[in-house]
Amino acid sequence: MNVAVIGSGTMGNGIAHVFAQHGFSVALIDVSQNALDKGLATIGKNLDRQVTKGSLSADDKTATLGRLTSFTSIAEGVRTADLVVEAATENVELKLNIFRELDQHAPAGAILASNTSSISITRIAAVTQRPAQVIGMHFMNPVPVMKLVEVIRGYATSDEVTRRVMDLSRELGKTPTEVNDYPGFVANRILMPMINEAIYSLFEGVAGVEEIDTVMKLGMAHPMGPLQLADFIGLDVCLAILRVLHDGLGNPKYAPCPLLVNMVTAGRLGVKSGEGFYSWT
Ligand code: CAA
Repeated sequence: MNVAVIGSGTMGNGIAHVFAQHGFSVALIDVSQNALDKGLATIGKNLDRQVTKGSLSADDKTATLGRLTSFTSIAEGVRTADLVVEAATENVELKLNIFRELDQHAPAGAILASNTSSISITRIAAVTQRPAQVIGMHFMNPVPVMKLVEVIRGYATSDEVTRRVMDLSRELGKTPTEVNDYPGFVANRILMPMINEAIYSLFEGVAGVEEIDTVMKLGMAHPMGPLQLADFIGLDVCLAILRVLHDGLGNPKYAPCPLLVNMVTAGRLGVKSGEGFYSWT
């Protein structure tokens, strides 16, 4: 089976990694060869880590890399795809344009999936001529490690396509969970209010950054505290998802904390900018 992955950033290279590791031929697609080279180098590094830990053999690493090809053109990369997983930047207009292009160039029977964390699958599907074959496949970061795939049914997604995507996710060693297409789906509808509340606790002086994270790590057995996790996800991404929840559900409880808004405005975006709730330089 042929899979095409659009975007070779953190999520895209992780998704390409797990499909290739589980025997699928994967075409990785991005706008520049430089971005593709970086994505492929990250896959190589993460496979090395698995080999060092003993969870993957050196031969399996070589075979995994051998199943990956790269393209700078969507038309060429998706020509023989049975499944396309889009993991481009989280921007509505960009995603709608990519899906128009995918609809034009991918085989008529191909499933078109998006890894979006909060953009409506129904809205994405509506720009294609095949809304029954459009679905959400929301992987979690780091993709090779996290077991969940949140499978999101758009308004028009067919039962057959949902069943195939659930089965494919299991073939990747993941646990798929079927959810309906409403703002934030389930993962971010629950995660983002927790992160927002942690930011409010800091904003209102209830406790400091490390104290808040320690309470959640040691008290609730979360692997990372909510403020550290927000730095990893990106504060701009957290803010964008909270705005989707706030606008889409119309409830003031989702209003982003003013401290989050200020930090994003000041360019303090977390790990990727070097500064967030913690310093990452
Ligand atoms: N590729 C392959 N393997 C990796 C990896 C990668 N990118 N990153 C880590 N690993 C492996 C390590 O090799 C290690 O393997 P073993 O268990 O076999 O030893 C294992 O993962 C744990 O890694 P570490 O020991 O280095 O670090 P850790 O114990 O601190 O765990 C973590 C790291 C798994 C990321 C953990 O901190 C964690 O679970 N964090 C929270 C992650 C999370 O909440 N993700 C969801 C974010 S939200 C999202 O993605 C969606 C959204 O829409 C916003």
